[in-house]
Amino acid sequence: MKVIVTKNYAEMSAVAADMFKGVLTAKKDAVLGLATGSTPEGMYACLVDMYKKGELDFSDVKSVNLDEYYPIKKSDDQSYDFFMRKHLFSHVNMKEENIHLPNGEAADADVEACEYEKLIDSLGGADIQVLGIGRNGHIGFNEPDTYLLADTHLTGLTASTIEANSRFFASEEDVPKHALTMGIGSIFKSKKIVVMASGKEKAEAVKTLLEGKIRTDCPATMLVLHRDCTLVCDEDAYSLVK
Ligand code: PGA
Repeated sequence: MKVIVTKNYAEMSAVAADMFKGVLTAKKDAVLGLATGSTPEGMYACLVDMYKKGELDFSDVKSVNLDEYYPIKKSDDQSYDFFMRKHLFSHVNMKEENIHLPNGEAADADVEACEYEKLIDSLGGADIQVLGIGRNGHIGFNEPDTYLLADTHLTGLTASTIEANSRFFASEEDVPKHALTMGIGSIFKSKKIVVMASGKEKAEAVKTLLEGKIRTDCPATMLVLHRDCTLVCDEDAYSLVK
């Protein structure tokens, strides 16, 4: 795993955006693997800025998002569909038919998960996938457990993730208890992975990630097996690494 340590959140965001720019410049119809959460917000702002300056064109770009709460209405302002439109899709020239997220409104979550995995395959996997990392080491909603799943699936959220995400909801009870998420194998179908981490609350997860041991109680550690994975983190997130 390559590691880039930046001074702060702004620099981390700019470095990650530059990696996306590199892929988009080389391939106009790239498939972007996207993620939600506070971590990539700054990177999306940088990409929107590059688009507005005429440096990027999203007209042939396709996207696959990592996860979505289940069940949730797309119109819910806490849905990941809503988040993506707010931070990226509504600001760039992506075509609606090229935007893909797991459908939190699907009648049958297992069928939706299976269809989503087929979609990822039909696109040939992402050319570049951005990931945040949970305080508990999760990637997407692949939570710490005794085992991990390869394909897109419906999963329960751990107490730690519900608590972490409750900051976006009126109360902890309002946080959905389930989500559709790419599995570790779906994530590994992407050709390039950028993991971002910012702030002291991610320091423990980053430390465990860089110990190089694969542990299902810290799903991010699987990433050391990927052939083109870069961790971009700020000094705070890197502060516990010896
Ligand atoms: P955050 O979430 O970016 O909001 O910290 C990251 C994650 O849980 O994967």
